[in-house]
Amino acid sequence: MKTALVTGAARGIGLATTKQFLQKGWHVVMIDRDEEALTSEAAQLDQVTPVLCDVSQIKQVNDVAQRIERVDALINNAGVADFGPIEDTDLSRWRAVMDTNLDGVFLVTQAFVSALAAAKGAIVNIASISGLRASTLRVAYGTSKAGVMALTQQQAVELGEKGIRANCVCPGPVRTKLAMAVHTQDIIDAYHDAIPLNRYGSEDEIANVITFLCSPEASFVTGQIISVDGGFEATGIGLPALRR
Ligand SMILES: NC(=O)c1ccc[n+]([C@@H]2O[C@H](COP(=O)([O-])OP(=O)(O)OC[C@H]3O[C@@H](n4cnc5c(N)ncnc54)[C@H](O)[C@@H]3O)[C@@H](O)[C@H]2O)c1
Repeated sequence: MKTALVTGAARGIGLATTKQFLQKGWHVVMIDRDEEALTSEAAQLDQVTPVLCDVSQIKQVNDVAQRIERVDALINNAGVADFGPIEDTDLSRWRAVMDTNLDGVFLVTQAFVSALAAAKGAIVNIASISGLRASTLRVAYGTSKAGVMALTQQQAVELGEKGIRANCVCPGPVRTKLAMAVHTQDIIDAYHDAIPLNRYGSEDEIANVITFLCSPEASFVTGQIISVDGGFEATGIGLPALRR
């Protein structure tokens, strides 16, 4: 049975992605560091292996890699958001974001290269529109996600010879716990205004693209950075005064 390994699988985009793989008949290794959420969600699903692991901790990651033999798709989705001005982002806040969002993607991928090569598997890294466009308050988060995009291209170029594909999905805003912790009502209204489709996306709309990138239909797609953002990235000079 094909196996997907999804990090940050206990809720949000990772949980929706897990459920889509299950619907397609895959087995899913659900990785998360939130034991309570992981245990309760996994208990409601068949064909999953929940694994408590913090992706920023090399020992924990390598222990998991010892236990999991087959990986056809690796979804590096675990992420944290912390919005703050540059002057207030002290080194510990910066590091906490980088540890999970960037180091985690590096460590988990490195640990599963052999398994992915054996399966001629696919990697999908989850970045963000915040990595494509600069913004106030996102010095750590935005920079970590820009790093994920560059890391994806490094992985695609170097691991292609092993038959491994690596792509990156940049979600626009989705109403998950992560987003709602940092999106005030003002930010929500501004996103609706700035996004051509005038709304937030859903977890499933992001998962649809993630699972497509792991499917045989995407067998010649690698090294790509794909926004799933309601058209946000396409907007240039989005002056309200220029609208009809
Ligand atoms: N929701 C959005 O608007 C949005 C937009 C762009 C990008 N993203 C990205 O999508 C991904 C998923 O976000 P979400 O909105 O579903 O968030 P979420 O907070 O709902 O889920 C994230 C999950 O990751 C887990 N996690 C966090 N750090 C971890 C670590 N070090 N080790 C293991 N598990 C860890 C959390 O426990 C949680 O279950 C993130 O990478 C996020 O940056 C989200």
